[in-house]
Amino acid sequence: MKDILTELESRRQDARMGGGQRRIDVQHAKGKLTARERVELLLDEGSFEEFDMFVAHRCTDFGMENNRPAGDGVITGWGTINGRMVYVFSQDFTVFGGSLSETHAQKICKIMDMAMQNGAPVIGINDSGGARIQEGVASLAGYAEVFQRNIMASGVVPQISLIMGPCAGGAVYSPAMTDFIFMVKDTSYMFVTGPDVVKTVTNEVVTAEQLGGASTHTKKSSVADGAFENDVEALAEVRRLVDFLPLNNRQKPPVRPFFDQPGRVEPSLDTLIPDNPNAPYDMKELIHKVADEGDFFEIQAEFAKNILTGFIRLEGQSVGVVANQPMVLAGCLDIDSSRKAARFVRFCDAFEIPILTLVDVPGFLPGTTQEYGGVIKHGAKLLFAYGEATVPKVTVITRKAYGGAYDVMASKHLRGDFNYAWPTAEIAVMGARGAVEIIHRADLGDADKIAAHTADYEARFANPFVAAERGFIDEVISPHSTRMRVSRAFASLRGKTLKNPWKKHDNIPL
Ligand code: HXC
Repeated sequence: MKDILTELESRRQDARMGGGQRRIDVQHAKGKLTARERVELLLDEGSFEEFDMFVAHRCTDFGMENNRPAGDGVITGWGTINGRMVYVFSQDFTVFGGSLSETHAQKICKIMDMAMQNGAPVIGINDSGGARIQEGVASLAGYAEVFQRNIMASGVVPQISLIMGPCAGGAVYSPAMTDFIFMVKDTSYMFVTGPDVVKTVTNEVVTAEQLGGASTHTKKSSVADGAFENDVEALAEVRRLVDFLPLNNRQKPPVRPFFDQPGRVEPSLDTLIPDNPNAPYDMKELIHKVADEGDFFEIQAEFAKNILTGFIRLEGQSVGVVANQPMVLAGCLDIDSSRKAARFVRFCDAFEIPILTLVDVPGFLPGTTQEYGGVIKHGAKLLFAYGEATVPKVTVITRKAYGGAYDVMASKHLRGDFNYAWPTAEIAVMGARGAVEIIHRADLGDADKIAAHTADYEARFANPFVAAERGFIDEVISPHSTRMRVSRAFASLRGKTLKNPWKKHDNIPL
């Protein structure tokens, strides 16, 4: 018995060494942690239960039969994050560059199947040279098996991808189908075709970092939802995100202890809106002042900054926030912000996370770039996402809510549950100046008349009361009481049930 136990321990020790000390040193020299170190940091201490530690590939080409490291380049299993179960896979770059073989894929598929069956999130740590070149089509088949599971798991359990090294070719499509992608600055990249192919085909000269680094994907392409300085920070932030999420679509998000008065009054909010209606202010200030302990986990902070998306807690319960940001493009909706917010709203709805919408929107951004780029279809995504969402929806209009953008931003007409406005709200078809120039075109040459018409329009429409008279606004609230009002609103909606008609699936304008 003792010999057997010794052999087990020795086999385990071999598996833990992955591709060997030399390759581990190379990994560390690049500023990267090993696959195992990453799992240890991601999960609660001592909680990791590994599967398939001794799985080895079955390839017999290119002399591979003589090189069969235990684990086959990916570490899989489950553990807990702050006591809540998650499944995890972590590709081991020290073993064949973390490349995906048939058996490597089977290991990933096994934990994905278990995650679906048992209702827990999947966190994938990607650090891989792509398809295991020695295996050819068997590897491609393995990828497709993973893809199919990503699709089936979408909307059932949260899926989070961490890109912590190379992720190239078709391999990018597994993370692309997960709910969130986070990258590490300088050590990770994602692209469908690498710099050499780009050079050959389009004659563009570009580095891997420029083509698919963290900066590119968080600022330009919006493929990634966030980027962090190093592995340690990325793993810690994913732990923070998981705390906001339910384990699956049948459960409510977790309720955390909170140390903040739900009725906390914030007098400073009464002066948040500047006197000049065209002057910007920072909508993040409102989010921080409403949130429990000011805690806001922002999603896509670097992309389409004219809209803010992320998670807060109210009375310990997760709430998704969507907010126009007047500091950027005056808070206009455009292609990028519509896409960003629509995806976020759909995530929240899929996982029963209530949505708080903070509105200050002068309309959709005009211009040929927007129209040629299909702002009609992209704007419709956000409209569609809000309209189909059945989770509790609470909306606060702080200032402008003009035109179609008023409708889109979780208005009463899209089944908003509580639609509040601050006294500074202006709910109208458009701004006073634009309106007057259309309906009083004949007076355009007379500055005095135009000024009088503008003042008249402002007095009549640049307020929340016309909408409140019709019941489109449930209540005009004092800015300082916003946290209390929205907390109470969400508390009253905890028993909400609303179902959309049966359908196979909808046809959102993709
Ligand atoms: C097998 C691989 C591998 C792969 C790397 N290695 N990629 N083994 N299949 N795809 C091995 C290397 O042989 C090496 O082994 C070790 O991993 C580390 O690789 P290095 O090249 O030394 O590391 P580095 O210089 O950091 O470069 C990393 C790299 C490069 C940029 C990822 O290895 C590379 O370009 N690899 C090939 C990428 C590729 O073309 N993959 C196929 C893409 S097509 P030793 O023994 O020396 O340590 C694809 C299709 C997916 O993925 C389709 C899905 C639908």
